[in-house]
Amino acid sequence: MKLLIINGPNLNLLGKREPGIYGNTDFQSYFIRLKEKFPETELDYFQSNIEGELIDKLQQADGSFDGVILNAAAYTHTSVGIGDAVKAISVPVVEVHISNVASREEFRHTSFISPNARGVIFGFGLEGYDLAVRSFLS
Ligand code: DQA
Repeated sequence: MKLLIINGPNLNLLGKREPGIYGNTDFQSYFIRLKEKFPETELDYFQSNIEGELIDKLQQADGSFDGVILNAAAYTHTSVGIGDAVKAISVPVVEVHISNVASREEFRHTSFISPNARGVIFGFGLEGYDLAVRSFLS
């Protein structure tokens, strides 16, 4: 099983950014532990702050990965382009958010990704990525 985690804008700042919401752990340290937890799963990670790069990566994942775990961060709520990319590809995408977006500002309640995602996981902190990996294994 080959899975790609794609993180969007500002998620390179995890650990430093609003720790009350996103926690104190940076993604690189978390990703090392995640790979140790799932030694039989090939896990790749990509982060970009640039919308077009996220779209390119989604298109490239089609045919080369069994699944994508996507936290498009703020672009979730704004990007028709990323939503269209998720719709256009045939590799299944699980949408993840670290925070409970439903309990936050109204603009975070909209997702251009959810309609075409296999499923959505939010509100469990970084653990949400573990759950997303597991969803592909079950
Ligand atoms: C986020 C939630 C988004 O609303 C926000 O813009 C982010 C992170 C999350 O993981 O909780 O940057 O996707």
